[in-house]
Amino acid sequence: MIDRETVQRILDAADIVEVVSDYVTLKRSGASYIGLCPFHNERTPSFSVSRAKGLCKCFSCGKGGSPVNFLMELEQISYTEALKRLAKKYNIEVKERELTDAERQQASERESLFAVNDFALNYFEHNLTDTDDGRDIGLTYFRERGINDWAIKRFRLGYSLPKGDALYRTATAKGFNEKYLFDTGLCAKTEEGRVYDRFRGRVIYPIFTTSGRVVAFGGRILQAKKEGVGKYVNSPESAIYHKSVEVYGLYQARQAIAKKDRCIMVEGYMDVISMHQSGIENVVASSGTSLTEGQIHKIKLITRNLTVIYDSDPAGIKASLRGINLLLAAGMNVKVVLLPEGDDPDSFAQHHSSTEVEEYIERNSQDFIAFKTDILLKGVVNDPIARAGVITDVIESIALIPDPITRNVYIQECAMRLGMSEKLIVQQCDKLITARRDKEAMKKAKEDAARTLQGVDKQETGTSTSTQAPPTKPEETEQDDSLYLAKYERAVLRYALKYGAVEIGDEAYDQEGNAMSITVIDYILGDLEGDGLTITTPLYARAINMASQLLRDEWPSARTRADERIDKERQQMWEQGVAAIRDSGCSVADIDRREKELRARCDEMVRGARAVVAQHFIEKQMASCDDDEIRRLTTDLVSERYQLSKIHTKHAHIETEEERLYSLVERAVYELKDAVLECQQRSIRRKIKAVCSQPNCDPSQVLALMQENKRLTEIKAEFAKFLGERIVAPRR
Ligand code: GTP
Ligand code: MN
Repeated sequence: MIDRETVQRILDAADIVEVVSDYVTLKRSGASYIGLCPFHNERTPSFSVSRAKGLCKCFSCGKGGSPVNFLMELEQISYTEALKRLAKKYNIEVKERELTDAERQQASERESLFAVNDFALNYFEHNLTDTDDGRDIGLTYFRERGINDWAIKRFRLGYSLPKGDALYRTATAKGFNEKYLFDTGLCAKTEEGRVYDRFRGRVIYPIFTTSGRVVAFGGRILQAKKEGVGKYVNSPESAIYHKSVEVYGLYQARQAIAKKDRCIMVEGYMDVISMHQSGIENVVASSGTSLTEGQIHKIKLITRNLTVIYDSDPAGIKASLRGINLLLAAGMNVKVVLLPEGDDPDSFAQHHSSTEVEEYIERNSQDFIAFKTDILLKGVVNDPIARAGVITDVIESIALIPDPITRNVYIQECAMRLGMSEKLIVQQCDKLITARRDKEAMKKAKEDAARTLQGVDKQETGTSTSTQAPPTKPEETEQDDSLYLAKYERAVLRYALKYGAVEIGDEAYDQEGNAMSITVIDYILGDLEGDGLTITTPLYARAINMASQLLRDEWPSARTRADERIDKERQQMWEQGVAAIRDSGCSVADIDRREKELRARCDEMVRGARAVVAQHFIEKQMASCDDDEIRRLTTDLVSERYQLSKIHTKHAHIETEEERLYSLVERAVYELKDAVLECQQRSIRRKIKAVCSQPNCDPSQVLALMQENKRLTEIKAEFAKFLGERIVAPRR
């Protein structure tokens, strides 16, 4: 953990133009810089860098963000690692934050597990090359399988001595607590209480996280097959190892995957290693089991394009088709390659040059639809019922694809391949999608229901309709409501993140008529709170809370630091100006006049510089925070252009968003409130319908609801009037 102050100093120092320039040649282009995008291959530059915003973004592939985010994505490193790199670049000493007791306990627990694993990693490696047993047995085995020294080093392969508890003895003698040897599963106890090394007599394949920490091991027996002994043994789950989120080889493959914008998926450890050794390095393994969502997520952070390589073993392929469905649902673009009969990726890579392997993959990549259809249709061509089953199965897969355009391409392909009408497939897909949405909506609505209805319940006049009469089919409509609200919340949030620390005080007055100083964020939150409202979309709520906390906790000292810097700049500007005036040898009257001008220029500079700092404070912080979702959201919102039409004032001058900030924020908040009212009315209408549909419905209940509805309509009319006036007469 790096302490907050240091993080702050790193973020202050990091200059996006300098950081990006380490990787990309940038050229000035107006107020920003432009260069070739490092995230994808391109000939014409679409990667734009803005120093003032502290952000970079590719207009073609959309990647980019703050300096931290840029490094994280490009180097495929963790948040902390990115901060450390920046610290190094700017010569900032990294002080680790004092942890709370609970944190320290947990961290030291985890660190102890890592430490034991690190020790074992080195120990196994050492066994392989520096002991007789290791060389004779382990190394010989790898040699026989064609693995060279480069690959052994790269994958940190090792050997666990056959002696039952060699690791246990060595580790404890070195002072490692046996608790951690057991917790990592490196050692275990028999029922009689005898300690043994889990991996004894096996060659070792360490398993790393994306950032290169060793979390687990796989160990393979050397004999061909032994009754009752698994070919592989793996570390059990522990506080640092969650099988379902680690992808074997991702650490070694991550840069090649990013560069090629494609990940190749094989089954086994040996397949990965042989492929890397042959020069194809964007290869990872699912480790035999079918893929999990967590594993897919890790890959998806680097690329959306995946090629799965299969041995031509029909049973195995059919079993893995389900895994492909998960990939499709995650929005991955999936291709499939079938190897020649009798080959697996390991043997294929061992017997062919890298060019041959690459060409084979290139030529034999099929999209999944073609692949799945072919595989399933084999042998059932003349059986209409079985054929129908296959078609349904394939359409089910297509319906999982989230992007409608991609889905459509597959639908066309499928229609052609199966000789069916496109329309029919579309209909079938739509049915499946609707069914799935209903199911998801129902689930989500249940979670959202309480929250979305909160506003209405508060204003209800003592009746308890909501408990008595469950509205008919509420799921879909409430889901719609929260989506509807989210749109307006997003608009408000955009101002909070983009201008959060900017003061719009000259527009607001306290009871005595004095101008009040209020920041955009305080204005938004205060105004909503005044009406008992909060932001309901969970991510947005998290974001605005974070912004408000930053404003409270970090902004005062950040502003002081900035002021100090600006004061220095002013001082410099002043001194240089005065010297220039003196050297010009003009008259006393001139000196007076020119000094006055200089003072005005200095003041203007200070005002401008302060405004820039205030304007970018929140977005810079949040685009660099350690929360992936918030970082992405901030980058998106900040780079969204001003959506409203340009407004011409009587001075025939197009007002900028900054100039109209107060009225724009005010308007966005009103629009959000209006949307809340709209949702409350929708909800009331649903309740009225529900009450009326009851066999012996109570008219007084309906009346109360209708009155409430009328009251809301009146408030909405007020809003409409307010908003309308604001449109006709922009401020000033
Ligand atoms: P080789 O037999 O050395 O070529 O191994 P491989 O890495 O090519 O493995 P294989 O294709 O047989 O199996 C694919 C993956 O499934 C392996 O890398 C392991 O992760 C996993 N696996 C296979 N057999 C076992 C087993 O008996 N136990 C466990 N836990 N995992 C296994
Ligand atoms: Mn194999």
